[in-house]
Amino acid sequence: MKRIVVQFGGTGDLAQKKLYPAYEHLMGKGFDFSVLALGRRFKDRKEFVKAMVSPDASPEFLKNLEYLYYDMADPEATDPLRQYIQTVIEGTDEVELIYYMALQPSLYEEAIRQIQKIDSQLSCQCNLTKKIVVEKPFGFDLESAQRYNEILLKAFDDKEIYRVDHYLGKEFMQNLLILRFHNDIIRSIWDNRSIESIQIIFDETHGVDQRLGFYEQIGVVRDTIQNHIMQIITYLTMNEPATLSPEDIAVEKIKVLRSIAPVSEFHTGRYESLGANSGHVVDTPTYAALKLSVNTYFFADVPIYIRTGKMQADAKSLIYVKFRNTTGKVMHDDSIAENGVIITIHPELTIDISMNLKEPDTSWKSKPVRFRFNQAETFGANTPEAYEQIVKKILQGDKSLFPSMREITESWRIVTPMLEQERHMEVYPVRTLPRFASDLAKDNGFIWFD
Ligand code: BG6
Repeated sequence: MKRIVVQFGGTGDLAQKKLYPAYEHLMGKGFDFSVLALGRRFKDRKEFVKAMVSPDASPEFLKNLEYLYYDMADPEATDPLRQYIQTVIEGTDEVELIYYMALQPSLYEEAIRQIQKIDSQLSCQCNLTKKIVVEKPFGFDLESAQRYNEILLKAFDDKEIYRVDHYLGKEFMQNLLILRFHNDIIRSIWDNRSIESIQIIFDETHGVDQRLGFYEQIGVVRDTIQNHIMQIITYLTMNEPATLSPEDIAVEKIKVLRSIAPVSEFHTGRYESLGANSGHVVDTPTYAALKLSVNTYFFADVPIYIRTGKMQADAKSLIYVKFRNTTGKVMHDDSIAENGVIITIHPELTIDISMNLKEPDTSWKSKPVRFRFNQAETFGANTPEAYEQIVKKILQGDKSLFPSMREITESWRIVTPMLEQERHMEVYPVRTLPRFASDLAKDNGFIWFD
């Protein structure tokens, strides 16, 4: 079978940093496909390869990587692309075309229209299958997401559409489900009878200047909250699915999303120097902090505190599940600490359970200690990157790591009021936590797990 990935946004940041390395690894592992990168930044393949591909790239990857100058605004642009595909598929029995859209959401509609046009003009005596991959955010808001979906469904079956949220390809996400649903001792403590609160912290040290054009139109809510953060919340709070099949998992995730109450505490900010080199003021939120709750029987009354954004002092990604502390009262000892589960994603993947044990040489005095799982120490440092997992699933035709349209729609519903509020922004100095994030903690009587 001949398989071609047609890479829209082939000269963008995502393609360069994540997708090309993933393609290269997978080719190295025996996956058979070629890549056609589309873009306007370079006039020919030589320039493209020089600028976009690591000098250490494998000969196999380079052999299977082509580039086509492609200007989406040019009405004639589809002709050379159609010709290229036509030439490649000529004389082949079985062909799979994978259109990968790593584009600004505002370009989706046009890209889909162009794909439809090419599709209708291809002629092939072969068994031709196709897939379309759409990066997050899927749409710009609820209305556009639904519109894009309708347009997509005119050209593709839902089973041919892969809506990407690369967090679902991350080891820690899949581990959340295994931790929760393959362990009896966790099952009985994982609900509002034992859990007091949850924190999700995703602080990044980098800014957005490399991707200013994209980010300026997107902002933090569309960039990470509508997708990555909502998916994490579903994995943390969903009921057990009937099986770990994609369909059964989706049913439970949708229940969670539909149970998220309107978000009452939400604040945004942007870092001071955002867009300083661009010559115009860029008023786009780069940091957000919020509190929400999942009103199911098992999670109602467990506040979930979230903070996420750019230009922070330390790169820190973690989830902190804090348990109720009844023991302190029962034992008449305020110094007894609460128990916790800490899932750290960055700087390395670890899962800690914090428990109290006796401090040596004391009389019944305890101290919190951590029982730690370290992914790299236990399984080696070679866990595939999220994008490698995602692309592998696309090649294999397995939709288990992709959010369904229903999940995406529900997530848009939740974040829509946030989008309406996000213009009231605090400007924060780089490398500092915005004031509103500290205030959220103060007002709600908790301490960020720093
Ligand atoms: C992307 C966002 O989806 O996720 C980026 O567009 C963000 O702004 C990134 O930095 C974080 O992903 P990861 O894999 O580095 O945690």
